[in-house]
Amino acid sequence: KTPIWLDCDPGHDDAFAILIAALHPSFDLLGISTIHGNSSLAKVTNNALSVLTAIGRPDVPVYPGAKKPFMRPAVHAPDIHGDSGIDGTTLLPVPAAKPQSIPAVQAMRDAIMATAPQTCVLVITGTMTNAALLFAAFPETAVHIKTVSIMGGAFGRGNITKHAEFNIYCDPESANSIFTLPALSHKLILSPLDLTHTVLVTTSVRQTLTSTPSTLRTMFYELLMFFADTYIRVFDMTEGPPLHDPVAVAAVMDESLGMGFEYDEVEVVVLSHGEEMGRTVKVGDGEGVDFNAHEGRRQLDKAGDVVAGKGVKVRVGRKLDVGRFWEVVMEVVGRADER
Ligand code: BDR
Ligand code: CA
Repeated sequence: KTPIWLDCDPGHDDAFAILIAALHPSFDLLGISTIHGNSSLAKVTNNALSVLTAIGRPDVPVYPGAKKPFMRPAVHAPDIHGDSGIDGTTLLPVPAAKPQSIPAVQAMRDAIMATAPQTCVLVITGTMTNAALLFAAFPETAVHIKTVSIMGGAFGRGNITKHAEFNIYCDPESANSIFTLPALSHKLILSPLDLTHTVLVTTSVRQTLTSTPSTLRTMFYELLMFFADTYIRVFDMTEGPPLHDPVAVAAVMDESLGMGFEYDEVEVVVLSHGEEMGRTVKVGDGEGVDFNAHEGRRQLDKAGDVVAGKGVKVRVGRKLDVGRFWEVVMEVVGRADER
């Protein structure tokens, strides 16, 4: 089994990331940390505990992480996920467990250090403040990490601004600190909007979900209907909402499971000021500044920001087997039903 840690801000789509990480037999979920994002830290922490209770895994420890980024106020997304961060159903249960009292990064450090070198997977489906703090405070953890898989970024259109994707926009400095950390070179996978927008919750997906009656399935269905309405209202997307976050979990599933992931290996930097704040740029791809021309030096981006050092190699997902992805989701829903 792959040891996995999930750092998240549930979140309708985060709920499905929790479901796969907690119940797919190929994973051993070590713990969950929460992060400011879709709603306040207190609310997303409660949501994580509630989802774990709903799917029969209240034993998974949940650690509240950072309430805000280092350098700016927290931004939430009530227009997308509702005030609670996961509106749309009354079927989410009162959590059967309480949040842990150990600081999240300490718990992450302890869990990751207890795994064998190069084995542990860290999946991040929120903004990257916890991760930046973890690797700054405990750099020794990077040796035990096999992959850090992140949902975030946009190389086409953004979803919080024209250019920026929400998770990166909320804390661009932390994102940059991860994308420029030499110890994580070749260990980073990024699933940007360009990829997650291929994974749409269509009517047929919702029909498959509810083909067997259960309260849990109704709960997930109601969450997906809320998310679908959001995407119609805010983005005029009628074909179904993209289920972003579980894509970052699928990206670290063993190749034998046939998720069909394809990547481009590039360097990524995040612009952190002005109109383009939170925009992810592939280094040397002709957009913005040719960062390669200044290899290894501190550089200025287009808006005049200092961009820290040279980016490390990141595998940016461009394709996955969407049919296979939904099979895995339905398989874990079935497992949750049995609990
Ligand atoms: C990301 O932003 C959040 O609102 C979602 O949960 C997802 O992690 C998509 O941009
Ligand atoms: Ca999220």
